[in-house]
Amino acid sequence: MTQRQPIGVFDSGVGGLSVAREIRRLLPMEDLIYYADSAYCPYGEKDPAIIRQRERAIVEFLLSRGAKLIVVACNTASSAGLEELRKLFAAPIVGMEPGVKPAVAATRNGKIGVLATGVTITGDRFASLVKRYAENTRVITQPCPGLVELVECGKLEEPETERVLRGFLQPMLEQGADTIVLGCTHYPFLRPLIERLAGPGVAVIDTGAAVAKQVSKVLDENNLAVKEGPPGTEQFFTSGNQQEVEKVIRALWIRDNIQVKNLPLHAT
Ligand code: SIN
Repeated sequence: MTQRQPIGVFDSGVGGLSVAREIRRLLPMEDLIYYADSAYCPYGEKDPAIIRQRERAIVEFLLSRGAKLIVVACNTASSAGLEELRKLFAAPIVGMEPGVKPAVAATRNGKIGVLATGVTITGDRFASLVKRYAENTRVITQPCPGLVELVECGKLEEPETERVLRGFLQPMLEQGADTIVLGCTHYPFLRPLIERLAGPGVAVIDTGAAVAKQVSKVLDENNLAVKEGPPGTEQFFTSGNQQEVEKVIRALWIRDNIQVKNLPLHAT
């Protein structure tokens, strides 16, 4: 492995860009290679065994492109397959977990709400997170079917998105949650809307910046961080429709002069 190799980042679709943009901010000289598994999006209500198959195929692809570190920029994929990936591949792998720990530190009334997918909320990783950090906190979970699809279409502020989100937020707000965890990497793109609907007294927690810091730490520990040189580059791949995905990535990424290549990956 050498420092100049890229960091490989993947998600079921464009949600992982909310993590990739934090990595780009913190590590401007690193090259990034991003895979959006849009043909299989959303992962959130799929069988975890299918999700794990997709993860293995994507990690193999990213490593074949020289990735020196892998970021599983998807809470659902981390919940379903992070442990297996770490057993199968020698490269360092950083994953996501809903920000329960920072939410417990932030809540003033001991009630937190977690927005995530069904797979994340029912997974063992989430249960152990709650046991470890939130035993004395009321944790109100809310699966959000349909929300990922709206972000995938770039519908961040549309009345339809507002209506769907209101339905997910209302029960946790009625139960008094004063802190809301964004437990899916698509949701940070909805943060302005979530903050508006939740109101000023509610804190919103997203872990993208913390994951970028973890990536930086792991690169340093493995002597893999780029220390000098030109600004890093980005390459984008998708299993989905090239034109549609490129349009949304251009809208969500920090610059719009990017190109996306279609590259289906077959799980073995
Ligand atoms: C999904 O693909 O359904 C959600 C991705 C995530 O959990 O971050």
